[in-house]
Amino acid sequence: MVYQRVVRRALFRMGGGDAEVAHERTLRMTARLGALPPVVAGLRRYFGAAAPRTVFGVRFPGPVGLAAGMDKDGRALRAWPAFGFGFLEVGTVTRHAQPGNPRPRLFRLPASGAVINRMGFNNGGAAALAARLRASGPLPVPLGVSIGKSKVTPVEEAVEDYRSSLRELAPYADYFAVNVSSPNTPGLRGLQDKAALDELLGALDTTVPLLVKIAPDLTEHAIADVLEVCAAHGVAGLIATNTTLSRDGLAPQDAPRAAETGGLSGRPLTARALEVVTFVAKESTLPIIGVGGIHSADDALRMLDVGASLVQVYTGFIYEGPGLVRAINRAEAARGGDGRPG
Ligand code: FNR
Repeated sequence: MVYQRVVRRALFRMGGGDAEVAHERTLRMTARLGALPPVVAGLRRYFGAAAPRTVFGVRFPGPVGLAAGMDKDGRALRAWPAFGFGFLEVGTVTRHAQPGNPRPRLFRLPASGAVINRMGFNNGGAAALAARLRASGPLPVPLGVSIGKSKVTPVEEAVEDYRSSLRELAPYADYFAVNVSSPNTPGLRGLQDKAALDELLGALDTTVPLLVKIAPDLTEHAIADVLEVCAAHGVAGLIATNTTLSRDGLAPQDAPRAAETGGLSGRPLTARALEVVTFVAKESTLPIIGVGGIHSADDALRMLDVGASLVQVYTGFIYEGPGLVRAINRAEAARGGDGRPG
């Protein structure tokens, strides 16, 4: 409650209410925390809990990950484990550094517990991330690296973009997330189509586990196609889901913001993300990282119960703070959870 009453209120007022200014300042403060290892270790004892598991051959100390997009360039890597995260996903990074879309491009919809963003993969590029990871040395938790297509690269040449980022970052990644589901790069979601995905995955040659991140807006038929292609290429797992283009489930107070272009995340996504994970778990044996609208321990346990092996949070972390990660860790540890049921 202290987070919601005091910290969140202060954060939401930062930068005159500009969500991106608040995000940047919070990231800087978090990064500073990483320079204090004893503090990180102390906080980690409080926010973390032992619910370890091995998924696609990687040992995870806890089930809750930081979702892609929160720390795209890996600026606070040493600090995130303090909040109880059992793994981190950096990125999405692209082959070429790029500024992303013009601001404003990040909007809070507080009455709905939601966010709309059209960041457009603002990031320092794969080489800069590789340099930072080289300098930072090994982390106490596994690191996923999300890769996407640069805006300047035509969709027909996307494969070479992904291959380049893969080569650059393979020494530092415990897994790669192949992002073909962001709504903010024109043409990117088309890479989820059967033929395009087949070509892309066929060209990504690496010993690092590859996961594919999908959109919640795919039909069951399209998801089944994705699963078939993933199985054919020995993909290690699925990440479900990215943000949605739908505007269902928003509170009336947020109506003015609903018109903003971009991907919607948070509470309005909870039910759809759970539905997608349920479908994927029924249709395949691939491990799943469940993400989308997890705002409570119960939301996370439901995701794990329908077949996810791990979960990630982004918007829930903004609204609920690190107490959310702690609550999930404790709930999962209390029931002796170690991934997929059965
Ligand atoms: C995201 N997300 C995202 N996903 C991804 O694969 N690459 C990215 O670069 C980003 N960037 C990004 C920025 C912002 C501001 C938000 C809110 C989200 C999507 C994110 O990882 C997650 O899949 C969705 O937000 C759904 O989870 P939550 O937010 O409902 O917990």
